[in-house]
Amino acid sequence: MAKRVVLAYSGGLDTSVIVRWLTDKGYEVITYTADVGQGEELAEIPDKARAAGAVEAIVEDIKEEFARDFCLPTLRALALYEGKYPLTASLSRPLISKKLVHYADKFRADYVAHGSTGKGNDQVRFELSVWALNPDIEVLAPVREWEFKAREEQVEYAKKHGIPVKATKEKPYSIDRNLWGVSVECGPLEDPWQEPPEDAYQITTSPERAPNEPEYVTIGFEEGVPRSLNGAEYRLLSDLILELNEIAGRHGVGRIDMVENRLVGIKSREIYEAPGALVLYEAYRDILSLVTDRFTFHYFMNHVPHEYAKLVYEGLWFTPLREALDAFTGRLARDASGEVRLKLYKGSVSVVGRRSPNSLYEEDLATYTEEDAFDHIAGKHFTKVWGLPLKVLGKRRS
Ligand code: ARG
Repeated sequence: MAKRVVLAYSGGLDTSVIVRWLTDKGYEVITYTADVGQGEELAEIPDKARAAGAVEAIVEDIKEEFARDFCLPTLRALALYEGKYPLTASLSRPLISKKLVHYADKFRADYVAHGSTGKGNDQVRFELSVWALNPDIEVLAPVREWEFKAREEQVEYAKKHGIPVKATKEKPYSIDRNLWGVSVECGPLEDPWQEPPEDAYQITTSPERAPNEPEYVTIGFEEGVPRSLNGAEYRLLSDLILELNEIAGRHGVGRIDMVENRLVGIKSREIYEAPGALVLYEAYRDILSLVTDRFTFHYFMNHVPHEYAKLVYEGLWFTPLREALDAFTGRLARDASGEVRLKLYKGSVSVVGRRSPNSLYEEDLATYTEEDAFDHIAGKHFTKVWGLPLKVLGKRRS
């Protein structure tokens, strides 16, 4: 019986060559292509896959599953890798891996395959996710092993086997896109001192060319789920995110330029665009700070965002750690209902208003007017007790 493999297939040159290459090595290749909101037409994917030698080609829209089960928990954790990156590419890998495992089981394949290289993070995320879900499956990564050294050799191989190579001059970038955002690397970006050329950006207008008038957007949350935009309800979170990408992207919001630490030890310069995600991060942080008591909010901010970002980045999605952190943020999310109003203007997003039925803000306690209900004498005694250690320390020092 032939060895069967389910391959994560994008339809690009790399993965098409992989189909052929695996077929030559005696595998029966089933391709799996997910619509995660990459904004590409996928109708021709099955024909392309079969032309390259695949025996079966699966195309599936998993946008809502991606938004609900992967983006939302990460938003609730306010996770940003190294304080900046909203984990757009990192998040799609565990979901795609889950699907590969599912179809491997369905088609009784002993192998799954991906097109990641040996020096990136994605190989780690794919493989750890697959093993966590089915340790008996073997993962193949042809790009790490095959004989092609230069791109030209790959192109030649493709031509020899009748795999269509786009004649259009290709952009020098490596781009990964889904509804949560875009990541771009390679080409001129490899010089970390050079400002990214405008053509590196895929879904945002440059702040310079953004409208001269600010735009306001109101996001409604229900128990920590973004449900409405400017009063309009969205049944699908994925639709809300895609719409927010449009709105915020027009204002140049969501561009990130960073040098990051990859898992394999190298630093790399990457740029990201995540207009919708970053607006949601701002909004969610704000609603959370309004409805969460100080002790819980501080604990959350100190312990969750960084840890969560690390585990997503490092391929540890399918762990009890992630589930436990989700339970924690899920509890906080229960109170996070209400609205946040934000202003988008030439690359910036700022929260300008927030309200919630669960708000812990009490105007009569906060006010400096005569409505003030705060006990100022209590403040005096509080300060005395709180400051006692410093008084003792000061005495010792003098
Ligand atoms: N550095 C990012 C990450 O590891 C993005 C990698 C995306 N891949 C790509 N081919 N651009 O999550």
